[in-house]
Amino acid sequence: MKIGVIGCGNISETYFESQNLYNNFKVIACADINLEAAKASAIKFGIQQQNVDEILDNKDLDLIVNLTIPSAHKEIIIKTLNANKHSFSEKPLAMNFQDGLEIKKLADDKGLYVGCAPDTFLGAAGQKAKDLIEKNSIGSVVLGSFHLMSHGMEHWHPNPDFFFKPGAGPVLDVGVYYVTQLVSLLGPVKNIISISATVEKERTITSQPRSGEKIIVETPTTLMGILEFENNAKIQYFCSWDVWNHQHNPIEIYGKEGSIVLPDPNYFGGNIALAKKDKDWEIISTANMLLGLPNRKDGDNKIANYRGIGLSEMIDSIYNKRSARCNINLSLHVLEIMEGILIAAETEKIYSLQSSCNKTKLLTEDEINKLKIS
Ligand SMILES: NC(=O)c1ccc[n+]([C@@H]2O[C@H](COP(=O)([O-])OP(=O)(O)OC[C@H]3O[C@@H](n4cnc5c(N)ncnc54)[C@H](O)[C@@H]3O)[C@@H](O)[C@H]2O)c1
Repeated sequence: MKIGVIGCGNISETYFESQNLYNNFKVIACADINLEAAKASAIKFGIQQQNVDEILDNKDLDLIVNLTIPSAHKEIIIKTLNANKHSFSEKPLAMNFQDGLEIKKLADDKGLYVGCAPDTFLGAAGQKAKDLIEKNSIGSVVLGSFHLMSHGMEHWHPNPDFFFKPGAGPVLDVGVYYVTQLVSLLGPVKNIISISATVEKERTITSQPRSGEKIIVETPTTLMGILEFENNAKIQYFCSWDVWNHQHNPIEIYGKEGSIVLPDPNYFGGNIALAKKDKDWEIISTANMLLGLPNRKDGDNKIANYRGIGLSEMIDSIYNKRSARCNINLSLHVLEIMEGILIAAETEKIYSLQSSCNKTKLLTEDEINKLKIS
């Protein structure tokens, strides 16, 4: 499938390069409101530079990948659907659940696919843990926790403002990986309890080129609470950009017969720890799985980064007329959970979800083999 990219910023290189990992799409054009950014990508990847209207009108394209900032996601997805093209967007799907519902209605009316990141839950660690849970390795899941804690984004991203505005913050920006992983493992959420804090009202950028500039914080930087899933499992969460150091595991899941610890769901690979009741921890490596094999340098380490699998699997689903793993119902439900975490904190009331979604099917090594360029 020939595809175009709108939004040629920080994450775009990963998507341009993902066409070398998967065999069913080619990026042939790109656009950005910042013409210099679009030009730089067009030159680097040898593709056509267009403006946003031109790329939406481009008859050679069947799908637009939306890599703009969160506040532009809805506008670009709606324009893409109105141009009769499928859309795959970076997360979050939109700034709020209501906007997400509008996107879903238009996608359904038009019979077009809308997929959304993250696709890291399709990685080796997420799928291995799903397989273990579905094979009843720890019995039915009853409790658990997830912790994502750091001291923010202003030290690395060149333009970190959007992280501290509505539509981002630790839940919508990073929590999305954890929530999507858990919905993939446990199914939909029904109730949310939450409390919030904003430790610093102003952040100082320390990354280049804007080092020293201030950002006014407009969304909570810490959220803590509980997600209650439709299967009655209760998962405690702690999402914060106000913590310098900690020693919590990213995700712990407790079943009636044992426990599983998952690695950071922002990544595709990593080790899983499994302890059956009365037994010691067993470490399960995912490095021999297709989407777990380390393939990218990350500082001094090598990590598994297979971003693009969600897009590739969605394109395969379009051709084979089936629901994609990264589908609109999943991203809409995840969006409502994330918004619900903020609303529950603001209103000091339990938030009950309106939306639900089907648990995604395990992505098998055979299915990945058909999409992946080895
Ligand atoms: N940077 C990362 O590591 C990373 C990782 C995963 C996901 N994401 C997600 O990817 C998205 C983009 O993040 P980024 O870090 O690349 O941001 P960025 O600010 O570096 O790039 C965004 C680009 O979108 C362009 N843009 C903004 N509004 C536009 C519009 N209306 N029309 C056309 N172009 C527009 C900007 O000019 C900019 O070049 C965000 O949703 C973010 O959550 C980023």
